[in-house]
Amino acid sequence: MMSVLLSIFIFLIPLLILYKKSGRSSKNLPPGSLGIPVIGQSLALLRALRANTAEEWIEQRIRKYGPISKLSLFGNPTVFIYGQAANKFVFTSDGNSLSNQQNKSLRTILGEGNLLELSGPDHKRVRGALMSFLKPESLKNYVDKMNEEVKLHIEKHWDNKQEVKVLPLMKTLTFNIISSLLFGVERGGRRDKLVKWFEEMLEGMWSIPINLPFTSFHRSLGASKRVQNMVKQLIEEKRRGLVENGADSHQDLITCLLSICDEQNRQVMSEEEIVNNVTLVMTAGHDTSSVLLTFMMQLLANQPTIYASVLQEQEEIARGKQEGESLTWKDLGRMKFTWRVALETLRMHPPIFGGFRKAVKDIEYDGYLIPKGWQVFWVTSMTHNDEKVFAEPFKFDPSRFENQAAIPPYCFVPFGGGPRICPGYEFAKIETLVTIHYLVTRFTWELCADNRFSRCPMPVPTGGLPIKIKPRKLI
Ligand code: HEM
Repeated sequence: MMSVLLSIFIFLIPLLILYKKSGRSSKNLPPGSLGIPVIGQSLALLRALRANTAEEWIEQRIRKYGPISKLSLFGNPTVFIYGQAANKFVFTSDGNSLSNQQNKSLRTILGEGNLLELSGPDHKRVRGALMSFLKPESLKNYVDKMNEEVKLHIEKHWDNKQEVKVLPLMKTLTFNIISSLLFGVERGGRRDKLVKWFEEMLEGMWSIPINLPFTSFHRSLGASKRVQNMVKQLIEEKRRGLVENGADSHQDLITCLLSICDEQNRQVMSEEEIVNNVTLVMTAGHDTSSVLLTFMMQLLANQPTIYASVLQEQEEIARGKQEGESLTWKDLGRMKFTWRVALETLRMHPPIFGGFRKAVKDIEYDGYLIPKGWQVFWVTSMTHNDEKVFAEPFKFDPSRFENQAAIPPYCFVPFGGGPRICPGYEFAKIETLVTIHYLVTRFTWELCADNRFSRCPMPVPTGGLPIKIKPRKLI
């Protein structure tokens, strides 16, 4: 009897192993822990971001758990994946497997109708409407307006100063450019109110979504209400402008969105979608570009040879201009080296640390299960700092971008990739080139602080990057 039982047992063992193995490959969650409910690893990540050790924090996870692991961020169970294949998977998956998912705080603050939350035909419709203003063929008509904003900004905040803090000034500048071009809100009390509320709103976007009177999430929600009310007011005014005064439909983004109609002459975007998306564009466009400009100023101060080449390129353009003559679209096309410096700055200091998607169904990835409803977390610097992709990744070398086609796809991703690639790329490019042109040709500068920075979650250099400036004349 014993021997029969033993033979059955021995016979069953391989079957059991086979059964377990087949179960694991399709049903096993990635390794890792979800941590304390709601909080999970959010505080640890936020702490690492603040200390500028988030890349190390991620690398420690990889050493501990391997290339795919689970954790909990901002109230959601999450799977972290990285590398070229992971980026491709995240950026190209259609809405049937991965939909876009921002953290709950951001989603609540911006509103459910914002582009980051939409997928499929709704995403296409709203993105198409935004692109009709943000595409290069439209934006090239606004170089003059950007030029004017940059010159006014320099007159007010840089001329006759010995020392300035770059980051807050760049935020003021990019906010003013967006207010003027996208909102059509001119300088004055209204713009000042909008900027104050906006800054309050941004503070809680990456916070834990607990709505109690003392939380930063609560304060952000309040500020978001005030911003949205102002946008509603603007929509009313622009609508009247269109109907009663026949205003130019391309005078600013809001007017443009109000004017886009389908074949039945119905407005393509609802009022709520316009409010949510105008707020999104302001959020997405203001901090990111100001960070790029700030780090360019820092890197140019540290890299005399590269600074000299940027100066030479910009001076050649400046020398061909009459006093007070604006830059043109054609001039921007000649700023090739300066843009390569911007791209290398974005590689080393991507303003967006990473992002989230949501599994719409159970997905098997790399032998593990990503369950329906979980978040997928990608991180920009994982390929930007990979020496197999970028040799000597910690060396600042704009020549890497001389032949962009040679960079493997889905590895340089400061603007994301696929159908959700940043629609503000061209806008950011124009404002960066115009601003650097005037700063480089009119001033010399040296740093007053060290090169360290923290992430909140955008990178913030020590003290906001104070610099000593001196005026310079065209040679
Ligand atoms: C240096 C400047 C900028 C950087 C590095 C940047 C980066 C990014 C990244 C990484 C994404 C994709 C996120 C994802 O796939 O989850 C994104 C999306 C987006 N960006 Fe930018 N951005 C910049 C400037 C701008 C500007 C100036 C605007 C608007 C004028 C803008 C508007 C948007 C919008 C609306 C989206 C969402 C697109 C969608 O979901 O279809 N960005 N940006």
